[in-house]
Amino acid sequence: MPIDTKGRPIILIGLMGSGKTTIGKELSKMTGMPLIDMDSIIEEQIGKKISDIFRDEGEGHFRALETALLRYIEDDTIVSGKGAVIISTGGGVVLKAINREMLHRMGFVVWFNVDVPTLLERTSRSQNRPLLQSPDRFDILTRLHRERTPLYAEAAHLRLDSSNISIQDTVPLIHEAALKFFA
Ligand code: S3P
Repeated sequence: MPIDTKGRPIILIGLMGSGKTTIGKELSKMTGMPLIDMDSIIEEQIGKKISDIFRDEGEGHFRALETALLRYIEDDTIVSGKGAVIISTGGGVVLKAINREMLHRMGFVVWFNVDVPTLLERTSRSQNRPLLQSPDRFDILTRLHRERTPLYAEAAHLRLDSSNISIQDTVPLIHEAALKFFA
Protein backbone atom coordinates (compact mmCIF):
# COMPACT_ATOMS: atom_id res chain seq x y z
CA MET A 1 0.00 0.00 0.00
CA PRO A 2 2.12 2.91 -1.24
CA ILE A 3 1.78 6.47 0.07
CA ASP A 4 2.33 9.53 -2.09
CA THR A 5 4.58 11.52 0.26
CA LYS A 6 5.38 14.09 -2.44
CA GLY A 7 9.04 13.12 -2.25
CA ARG A 8 9.26 13.59 1.51
CA PRO A 9 10.25 11.17 4.26
CA ILE A 10 8.44 9.55 7.16
CA ILE A 11 10.75 10.02 10.15
CA LEU A 12 10.69 7.82 13.25
CA ILE A 13 11.92 9.26 16.55
CA GLY A 14 11.97 8.04 20.15
CA LEU A 15 14.25 6.68 22.83
CA MET A 16 16.52 3.65 22.48
CA GLY A 17 14.31 0.56 22.41
CA SER A 18 11.18 2.44 21.40
CA GLY A 19 10.87 0.35 18.22
CA LYS A 20 12.04 2.76 15.49
CA THR A 21 14.07 0.24 13.53
CA THR A 22 11.72 -2.72 13.94
CA ILE A 23 8.65 -0.70 13.00
CA GLY A 24 10.59 1.07 10.25
CA LYS A 25 11.33 -2.30 8.63
CA GLU A 26 7.66 -3.32 8.70
CA LEU A 27 6.50 0.06 7.43
CA SER A 28 9.05 -0.21 4.65
CA LYS A 29 7.64 -3.60 3.63
CA MET A 30 4.08 -2.30 3.72
CA THR A 31 4.69 0.90 1.74
CA GLY A 32 7.59 -0.13 -0.50
CA MET A 33 9.52 2.94 0.75
CA PRO A 34 13.22 2.26 1.44
CA LEU A 35 14.37 2.38 5.07
CA ILE A 36 17.32 4.57 6.00
CA ASP A 37 18.80 3.81 9.40
CA MET A 38 20.88 6.82 10.47
CA ASP A 39 23.03 4.92 12.98
CA SER A 40 23.87 2.27 10.37
CA ILE A 41 24.82 4.89 7.78
CA ILE A 42 27.14 6.61 10.26
CA GLU A 43 28.72 3.26 11.16
CA GLU A 44 29.30 2.51 7.45
CA GLN A 45 30.68 5.99 6.73
CA ILE A 46 33.16 5.90 9.59
CA GLY A 47 33.81 2.16 9.48
CA LYS A 48 33.24 1.82 13.23
CA LYS A 49 30.48 0.78 15.59
CA ILE A 50 28.62 3.61 17.36
CA SER A 51 30.05 2.46 20.69
CA ASP A 52 33.59 2.73 19.28
CA ILE A 53 32.92 6.22 17.87
CA PHE A 54 31.72 7.33 21.32
CA ARG A 55 34.79 5.76 22.94
CA ASP A 56 37.41 7.05 20.49
CA GLU A 57 36.06 10.38 19.28
CA GLY A 58 33.47 11.22 21.93
CA GLU A 59 29.74 11.89 21.91
CA GLY A 60 30.19 15.44 20.54
CA HIS A 61 31.79 14.06 17.40
CA PHE A 62 28.98 11.57 16.94
CA ARG A 63 26.40 14.38 17.32
CA ALA A 64 28.21 16.40 14.64
CA LEU A 65 28.09 13.38 12.29
CA GLU A 66 24.34 13.06 12.98
CA THR A 67 23.68 16.69 12.06
CA ALA A 68 25.84 16.45 8.93
CA LEU A 69 23.92 13.37 7.82
CA LEU A 70 20.57 15.10 8.40
CA ARG A 71 21.72 18.07 6.30
CA TYR A 72 22.70 15.66 3.54
CA ILE A 73 19.32 13.87 3.73
CA GLU A 74 17.49 17.20 3.72
CA ASP A 75 19.35 18.30 0.59
CA ASP A 76 18.45 15.02 -1.07
CA THR A 77 14.82 15.52 -0.08
CA ILE A 78 14.47 19.10 -1.22
CA VAL A 79 16.99 19.48 -4.00
CA SER A 80 16.94 16.04 -5.60
CA GLY A 81 13.40 14.99 -4.63
CA LYS A 82 14.69 11.59 -3.47
CA GLY A 83 13.17 11.89 -0.04
CA ALA A 84 10.34 9.37 -0.23
CA VAL A 85 12.01 7.16 2.36
CA ILE A 86 11.51 6.05 5.94
CA ILE A 87 14.17 7.39 8.28
CA SER A 88 14.93 5.60 11.52
CA THR A 89 16.86 8.05 13.71
CA GLY A 90 19.14 7.58 16.72
CA GLY A 91 17.40 8.34 20.02
CA GLY A 92 19.47 11.46 20.69
CA VAL A 93 18.85 13.15 17.33
CA VAL A 94 16.44 15.59 18.99
CA LEU A 95 19.07 16.98 21.39
CA LYS A 96 20.04 19.79 19.00
CA ALA A 97 17.48 22.46 18.11
CA ILE A 98 18.77 22.57 14.54
CA ASN A 99 18.06 18.84 14.16
CA ARG A 100 14.54 19.20 15.59
CA GLU A 101 13.81 21.99 13.11
CA MET A 102 15.22 20.05 10.17
CA LEU A 103 13.26 16.91 11.03
CA HIS A 104 10.00 18.80 11.51
CA ARG A 105 10.15 20.66 8.20
CA MET A 106 11.52 17.74 6.19
CA GLY A 107 8.73 15.23 6.57
CA PHE A 108 6.17 13.50 8.74
CA VAL A 109 7.70 12.90 12.17
CA VAL A 110 6.32 10.06 14.29
CA TRP A 111 7.38 9.78 17.94
CA PHE A 112 7.14 6.43 19.72
CA ASN A 113 6.55 7.29 23.34
CA VAL A 114 7.26 4.14 25.33
CA ASP A 115 7.37 3.73 29.11
CA VAL A 116 10.64 3.13 30.93
CA PRO A 117 10.05 -0.51 32.01
CA THR A 118 9.33 -1.45 28.39
CA LEU A 119 12.44 0.40 27.18
CA LEU A 120 14.49 -1.35 29.84
CA GLU A 121 13.28 -4.76 28.76
CA ARG A 122 13.83 -4.09 25.06
CA THR A 123 17.37 -2.76 25.52
CA SER A 124 18.46 -5.36 28.06
CA ARG A 125 20.63 -7.37 25.66
CA SER A 126 22.04 -4.41 23.74
CA GLN A 127 25.86 -4.09 23.61
CA ASN A 128 26.10 -1.25 21.10
CA ARG A 129 24.43 1.52 23.07
CA PRO A 130 27.18 3.46 24.84
CA LEU A 131 24.77 5.49 26.97
CA LEU A 132 23.43 2.28 28.53
CA GLN A 133 26.71 0.56 29.36
CA SER A 134 26.16 0.89 33.07
CA PRO A 135 24.36 -1.12 35.78
CA ASP A 136 21.83 1.65 36.52
CA ARG A 137 20.08 1.47 33.18
CA PHE A 138 16.69 2.06 34.75
CA ASP A 139 17.82 5.42 36.21
CA ILE A 140 19.48 6.42 32.97
CA LEU A 141 16.40 5.63 30.89
CA THR A 142 14.18 7.42 33.43
CA ARG A 143 16.32 10.54 33.15
CA LEU A 144 16.52 10.41 29.35
CA HIS A 145 12.75 9.93 29.17
CA ARG A 146 12.18 12.97 31.38
CA GLU A 147 14.75 15.20 29.67
CA ARG A 148 13.88 14.30 26.11
CA THR A 149 10.09 14.15 26.24
CA PRO A 150 9.72 17.89 25.49
CA LEU A 151 12.30 17.62 22.71
CA TYR A 152 10.52 14.74 20.98
CA ALA A 153 7.24 16.62 21.39
CA GLU A 154 8.71 19.65 19.66
CA ALA A 155 10.00 17.70 16.68
CA ALA A 156 7.02 15.37 16.20
CA HIS A 157 3.80 15.69 14.23
CA LEU A 158 2.36 12.51 15.74
CA ARG A 159 2.88 11.01 19.19
CA LEU A 160 2.12 7.31 19.51
CA ASP A 161 1.97 5.95 23.05
CA SER A 162 3.09 2.57 21.85
CA SER A 163 4.19 0.65 24.97
CA ASN A 164 1.21 -1.65 24.70
CA ILE A 165 0.60 -1.67 20.96
CA SER A 166 1.97 -4.50 18.85
CA ILE A 167 4.02 -3.84 15.73
CA GLN A 168 1.20 -5.31 13.67
CA ASP A 169 -1.13 -2.65 15.03
CA THR A 170 1.33 0.22 14.99
CA VAL A 171 2.23 0.04 11.31
CA PRO A 172 -1.32 0.57 9.97
CA LEU A 173 -1.77 3.49 12.40
CA ILE A 174 1.27 5.25 10.96
CA HIS A 175 0.19 4.42 7.42
CA GLU A 176 -3.22 6.00 7.94
CA ALA A 177 -1.80 9.08 9.67
CA ALA A 178 0.80 9.55 6.91
CA LEU A 179 -1.88 9.37 4.22
CA LYS A 180 -3.70 12.23 5.97
CA PHE A 181 -0.52 14.23 6.58
CA PHE A 182 0.59 14.14 2.95
CA ALA A 183 -2.91 14.47 1.43
C1 S3P B 1 21.52 7.27 21.27
C2 S3P B 1 20.75 6.32 20.65
C3 S3P B 1 21.31 5.31 19.73
C4 S3P B 1 22.60 5.83 19.08
C5 S3P B 1 23.56 6.32 20.12
C6 S3P B 1 22.97 7.43 21.00
C7 S3P B 1 20.86 8.22 22.21
O1 S3P B 1 20.35 4.97 18.73
O2 S3P B 1 22.32 6.85 18.16
O3 S3P B 1 23.91 5.22 20.91
O4 S3P B 1 21.47 9.27 22.54
O5 S3P B 1 19.70 7.97 22.61
P1 S3P B 1 19.03 4.06 18.98
O6 S3P B 1 17.98 4.98 19.51
O7 S3P B 1 18.70 3.54 17.64
O8 S3P B 1 19.42 3.00 19.94
